[in-house]
Amino acid sequence: MGMRLEGRRIVVTGAASGIGAAVARLAALEGARVACLDRDGQGAAALAASLPIPGHSEQVDVTDPEGVKRALDAAAKALGGIDGLVNSAGIVALGPITEMSIDTWRKVIDVNLTGTFLVSQAAVPHLHAASEASIVNIASAQALMPIAGSSAYAASKGGVQSLSKALAAELAPDIRVNCICPGLIDTPMNAGLKKAPEDGPPVPLDRYALRRWGKPEEIAASIVYLLSNDASYITGATLAVDGGRTFH
Ligand code: NAI
Repeated sequence: MGMRLEGRRIVVTGAASGIGAAVARLAALEGARVACLDRDGQGAAALAASLPIPGHSEQVDVTDPEGVKRALDAAAKALGGIDGLVNSAGIVALGPITEMSIDTWRKVIDVNLTGTFLVSQAAVPHLHAASEASIVNIASAQALMPIAGSSAYAASKGGVQSLSKALAAELAPDIRVNCICPGLIDTPMNAGLKKAPEDGPPVPLDRYALRRWGKPEEIAASIVYLLSNDASYITGATLAVDGGRTFH
């Protein structure tokens, strides 16, 4: 494997688990120094310490504007700048609109969409100071092709996709901004879907052309590609990494 991110300084939110953790690992394997941010401070610290190039960590709730600014400034100080950002912190809540409380709706929008906005906002001054800077936001296949019961989550992720395009336009040519739409990925977020047969119908994998769950490492590979200079002419793009869920 090459060192596509050699010398790069990358901030990853949601780095204590799932896709964020896989991105932090692969980015460090590719030569980056990584700042692992998460509301789970212990998880973020453990992950940062375990990386092939030891990383930095910050406990932060991405919905807290002051906390986010503090964490990004501290990450920039620890890494000596920031030239990559991956917004992976997120939550899911599903259910019919008639049963969705306003608190749940607000929480999902707040973490997934406003959190992505706040972290990007706090990172931009640091990214502007770097050359070849890049942001990758994690939306979802639910942004491209929502299913029943996903009103808050799909709206939040559709927002992340549009936010990514708006920022790509605004921050060009200095900072590239792209968006990944994962399919069904085997992470703790989906632990509840891995039911025993007696607990209900399984996830309908026939919606996915590849007919299987994705691995967090498969999402990390696409994110590292977009962070790297291999993607130097790509901005404002949405890449579905979803086993073919959204093309048929
Ligand atoms: P995960 O649940 O394994 O990890 C999410 C991480 O985000 C956790 O470490 C959690 O502590 C952190 N987090 C949550 N709220 C936070 C907050 N307010 N402040 C700071 N950190 C916070 O989930 P996974 O699967 O790794 O998801 C990562 C991203 O990918 C999310 O944005 C999710 O919506 C998205 N995604 C996941 C898919 C999947 O099938 N797992 C499919 C499509 C999108």
